[in-house]
Amino acid sequence: MERSLQDSWILGGLTVPNRVVLAPLAGIGNWFVRLQAKRFGAGLVVSEMVSSFAIHYGNEKTLTELLRIHPDERAAGSGGPISIQLFGHDPGVMRSAAATVAEAGADLIDLNMGCPVPKVMKTGAGAAMLKDPDTAVAVARAAAEGSGLPVTVKLRASNLPGQMEGVEVAERLVHDAGVAGITFHPRSAAVRHKGTPDYDLAATLVERLPVPVIVSGGMHGAEHIRWVFDHTGCEAVMLARGALGNPWLFAQVLDGGGPEPSRGQVLEEWEWVLDRAVEHLGPDRAVRYLRKFHPWYIERLGESRAVQDAMQRAESIEDQRTVIRSLDPVLSSAAA
Ligand SMILES: Cc1cc2nc3c(=O)[nH]c(=O)nc-3n(C[C@H](O)[C@H](O)[C@H](O)COP(=O)(O)O)c2cc1C
Repeated sequence: MERSLQDSWILGGLTVPNRVVLAPLAGIGNWFVRLQAKRFGAGLVVSEMVSSFAIHYGNEKTLTELLRIHPDERAAGSGGPISIQLFGHDPGVMRSAAATVAEAGADLIDLNMGCPVPKVMKTGAGAAMLKDPDTAVAVARAAAEGSGLPVTVKLRASNLPGQMEGVEVAERLVHDAGVAGITFHPRSAAVRHKGTPDYDLAATLVERLPVPVIVSGGMHGAEHIRWVFDHTGCEAVMLARGALGNPWLFAQVLDGGGPEPSRGQVLEEWEWVLDRAVEHLGPDRAVRYLRKFHPWYIERLGESRAVQDAMQRAESIEDQRTVIRSLDPVLSSAAA
């Protein structure tokens, strides 16, 4: 039977309404970015990575901001599950953090064993876990025990190019720690996010594992993404950089194409993000936080360097909103 990205599937006993997933994105994947992805159809959304130590030691911002799940996230789109991604190398700390994540209302926990950033790897977390499968298994078991939730793990092909220890670690995580699924990013940690992912290796992992495999990496363009789904036989695909400021990609992948958004739709969505950031952080912090979001929308609209500079310089939300509105031909002609 022909497989479709619109089909539902089961992950750790939970029904996921389709096969298009929002990736964990550090410093970005908060509740409103997840909500946005869901509004455009994402079947499963994963939070930005959160430190298990920060949760365990009760860091206030971590608990109130990074673990915040908004009630609208539940209702939006097809109502798929919400996963919180944790990182950390200490099983005891992970057990305690996972319990807190379950209390915060997560449906699933994803463990980061793929982060290539030295600050994370030097603590033994992220992609460093590939060098220490016993700890990886202990951490995954602890997350499941502490939370009572299904646990998935996101990992890479290897630490160095041309290797594939990620495949063996994934097998151990499934067989020895009972993880419910694996997200596989078939690049080495050394190349970070560069180069073409090894989709043949992803297909090999799919064949070897008795649990769902979600494939991450290189997910740009609806046609290519559907090709990866077919080529690897994976259970689901995960959108990351391709979806930054581009939630339309979810709808396009699910609908088998679909139009690009109009200028008015992009501007409207950009203001939606502005409003949600204010709701999340208050106007003063939102101004700074949003500076990383603006370039995505500016690029999408084909706007100039001058607009970029104006947005980065704007010191209040109202100033940022004025710049956005000045780009709308309808609004700016009405104001003239
Ligand atoms: C800005 C940024 C932040 C990321 N943060 C995380 C993270 O918190 N956890 C994680 O597992 N992967 C993270 N990743 C990796 C992505 O989830 C994804 O695996 C990677 O970008 C490859 O997909 P792509 O080539 O389609 O972008 C991040 C990537 C980017 C670009």
